[in-house]
Amino acid sequence: MTHEIVVIPGDGIGGEVVPAAVEVLEAVAGDPGPEFEFAEYEAGDRVAEATGQALPDATYDAAAAADATLFGAAGDTAADVILPLREAVGSFVNVRPARAYPGVDVVRPETDLVFLRENTEGVYAGHENRLSEDLSTLTRVVTTSASERLAEFACDYVAERGGDAFQVVHKANVMRETDGRFRDGVVGVAEERGVDTEEVLMDAFATRVCLDPTEFDVVVCPNLAGDVLSDLAAGLVGGLGLLPSANIGPENALFEPVHGTAPDIAGEGVANPCAAVLSAAMLLDHLGYGSEGDRVRESVEGVLADGPRTPDLGGEGTTEAVTGAIIDRL
Ligand code: NAI
Ligand code: MG
Repeated sequence: MTHEIVVIPGDGIGGEVVPAAVEVLEAVAGDPGPEFEFAEYEAGDRVAEATGQALPDATYDAAAAADATLFGAAGDTAADVILPLREAVGSFVNVRPARAYPGVDVVRPETDLVFLRENTEGVYAGHENRLSEDLSTLTRVVTTSASERLAEFACDYVAERGGDAFQVVHKANVMRETDGRFRDGVVGVAEERGVDTEEVLMDAFATRVCLDPTEFDVVVCPNLAGDVLSDLAAGLVGGLGLLPSANIGPENALFEPVHGTAPDIAGEGVANPCAAVLSAAMLLDHLGYGSEGDRVRESVEGVLADGPRTPDLGGEGTTEAVTGAIIDRL
């Protein structure tokens, strides 16, 4: 069976790391592995400048119809691109693993946790208003249905990993109505499913994860908290060049590094391809090729341990050299 993969490099280093991830997918493809057909589409600042539309209809439609999508990053137009793309694939959860790799000099080498971030609402639902010259407001959206759907996913996710508990991060002591609803929805489903939960206030989480990340395993978060706290966790494990993510929907999914377009290093050929390549490994898992996904992760792990490494990890390797080394190990 051939899988149709939509590829959207976007802006900045998206155009450097996404081709690297595609090369890795090509290297694991073929008899007896999966077969892929890649179709590249545009999105982001450059296409917005040219056409006035950051996410062309053709790109949206292609992502909605594809078996899976691999996305890089968009610059100033990020919100105009990634939010509708997540909607195109019907994604309700953003899965963000943050783990430290042996051989990489990091703040917290014992880190190994996964954020399950609500992906459709919260303060990212897009209800912002300019009410006067002096006043702007934002409406935060939280539904029981989205909170419960996220919790169902979290219960399945911990069961697959052989666990029986997850943590829920929120700030329901202050945002009593919205985060209260989120907390009640998530904890209610977990109770029904016989999964234990620990509630952690999001500010306390930020401190605790820095002091001892081994306290955490699977962390269920509202949208903004998941965005911010996963970047914080990236800082514990060597930076944004290492964090992949998966936007999962009922029938479709989109995979992207957590990082943005990195304008400070774009065009220099030194972007770390690992986050994008690890996102491609999550794509393999999602399509049912878990052993190929594991092979990719093992190759990345080997290269991180032995080099070459890109400058963000203290090395002198280029994107091309690191990608080549990953493929050699495959
Ligand atoms: P960023 O993630 O692009 O960069 C933050 C820092 O991490 C920079 O120093 C960068 O060089 C470094 N970095 C990130 N990825 C790296 C990699 N693969 N290898 C080596 N170093 C890496 O975040 P920033 O600077 O806040 O945003 C830049 C642009 O990206 C903005 O226009 C923002 O809107 C956009 N953005 C887009 C996202 C998306 O499309 N999903 C997500 C986050 C930001
Ligand atoms: Mg972010």
